Amino acid sequence: MHLPIARRLLLAAAATAFALPALAEAPIVIKFSHVVAPDTPKGKGAERFKQLVEERSKGRIKVEVYPNSQLYKDKEELEALQLGSVQMLAPSLSKFGPLGVKEFEVFDLPFLFRDTAAFNSLTQGKLGHELFARLEPKGIKGLAYWDNGFSVMSANRPLHHVADFKGLKMRIQSSKVLDAQMRALGAIPQVMAFSELYQALQSGVVDGTENVASNVWTQKLYEVQKDITVSYHNHLAYAVIINKKFYDGLPADLRAIVDSSVKDATTYADAIAATENAQALEKVKASGKTNVYTPTAAEINEWKKALMVVHKEMAGRVGAATIQEAYKEAGFVAPK
Ligand code: LMR
Repeated sequence: MHLPIARRLLLAAAATAFALPALAEAPIVIKFSHVVAPDTPKGKGAERFKQLVEERSKGRIKVEVYPNSQLYKDKEELEALQLGSVQMLAPSLSKFGPLGVKEFEVFDLPFLFRDTAAFNSLTQGKLGHELFARLEPKGIKGLAYWDNGFSVMSANRPLHHVADFKGLKMRIQSSKVLDAQMRALGAIPQVMAFSELYQALQSGVVDGTENVASNVWTQKLYEVQKDITVSYHNHLAYAVIINKKFYDGLPADLRAIVDSSVKDATTYADAIAATENAQALEKVKASGKTNVYTPTAAEINEWKKALMVVHKEMAGRVGAATIQEAYKEAGFVAPK
């Protein structure tokens, strides 16, 4: 077709006029993948982050949150982040060992944290920053730590004494410190993705597990576990992380919006964690499907005695200096 030149120029100009604003307005997409239910402290924190970023960037950034391992399971999601298939994650701190950053497993030392304040003083201190710096050569930038409280232990038999763990197959996250803990209790640890846990408990592939009440409730683990002990022996927390290349490549104003939104979502997620977990525990109790047992001080002392060996055993893996620094920052006092 031979259009007169003036007509062709006019058409080209019109096409450009339509195309340019469309290109300029295409939002930058952040895919934020995680493994827990939306109705948990992490799920709600991710949603709050999305809301804040989208508001503050006036739609220049769009955040797509994928909960419940919809996109990726535990191990895959870290690989996906490094490859840039997703931009953000918030894995538990117990899942960084396979990435080669073994020092993160210091957070899994049993009974390390007396309370949430002790955890916060570690993450806000020197060690918290150093650990994030160790992620950078892996192409990952640490943005924040999110607290999710203390874990309970569950199985299909009462777990009061250390001897009660003997021979139980217990699902753990991929941390060698958690592995050592289960062994110290006489159990047999088995690493398994979070998304496979319900099924594995139901079918008897594993006998028991440990987790925070909000996960026990939202994953319905109480349906397939007869006994829960409120031992609070471990602390669960997350690192909110982003693909470093993606982050560094953001225009400065948008990077500042991501930073401020993470900061405010962190305040929010941390503020709801204790209440959400307490409410979840009440709902688990009210379900009547499982016995929820609060151990006596003497029983907890027995657990502590059995588990302190893990602190020594794991010095070779986590690093003696890292452990000492963690003790100092968390104000840890070894039980007598
Ligand atoms: C688990 O894998 O047990 C949990 O840490 C999942 C989560 O992210 O809370």
